Amino acid sequence: MPMPARCPTVLVFDSGLGGLTVLAEITRARPDAQVVYAADDAAFPYGALPEPALVARVEAVIGRLIGAYAPDLVVIACNTASTLVLPHLRARFDLPFVGTVPAVKPAARLSRTGRITVLATPGTVRRDYTRGLIEAYASGCRVDLVGSTGLAALAEAELSGAPAPDEAIAAEIASCFVSGPDGRTDVVVLACTHYPLLLPRLRRLSPWPVTFVDPAPAVARRVVDLLGPAAAPGGPGEGVAVFTRGQCLDAPLGRALEARGLGRVAIDPFPLPPLLLT
Ligand code: DGL
Repeated sequence: MPMPARCPTVLVFDSGLGGLTVLAEITRARPDAQVVYAADDAAFPYGALPEPALVARVEAVIGRLIGAYAPDLVVIACNTASTLVLPHLRARFDLPFVGTVPAVKPAARLSRTGRITVLATPGTVRRDYTRGLIEAYASGCRVDLVGSTGLAALAEAELSGAPAPDEAIAAEIASCFVSGPDGRTDVVVLACTHYPLLLPRLRRLSPWPVTFVDPAPAVARRVVDLLGPAAAPGGPGEGVAVFTRGQCLDAPLGRALEARGLGRVAIDPFPLPPLLLT
């Protein structure tokens, strides 16, 4: 499909604010792009949804967003959705989709001890896709899959100006750190886009230093592969932020968007009922 030479519209989609970690890399790589950041917060957290409901939900919401904003490219900035829904989206919509999936391959390359952890939502941990990545790229490593039920919500709270106590974060990450006779965990894959929002605290609360792998730079590189490099220098970019719960722009959210390259942002309350499936 031919790509527009100038100012493409990129739709960046997540269940909540986690996709901002991917947005930051995209606005850095393509500061000239028109960005629509869409959070399906009416259905947050995706990690708890059964697979058929998640497929139906994401197809329905993305269909409406494509109808409303006519993007040139869609980034699914959510591991929980990407590891399940991408084939359905590609079959249904004639647009390039870039997904965000657990960075198992770089983690296996980076590990010296051969013991890595994939920290993700319970949905991503259960996926056949995730297990396939581990078989394909980390068969020589011991891989611990850790499903967190609460960390994404703690990251949302942190960004909204209500930081979670250290103990709550430490409890969510405790099982990522495994020490055995053949070595201890030295790489942790942040396989939910919310988790890099907490990176300084994750580092501080780790029982020993590890490398945290965030897939966002690789996602932005894939966007540039498909769209080409920036046509003109720019930024902070213009954009639209969409919240399916009908959220309004408050000061912490405005600062969070600006810090990630969306300087002039219009909020589009795009309310959709939480159980919209078609
Ligand atoms: N940000 C999402 C991900 O990358 C998940 C958060 C949720 O459970 O909705 O997996």
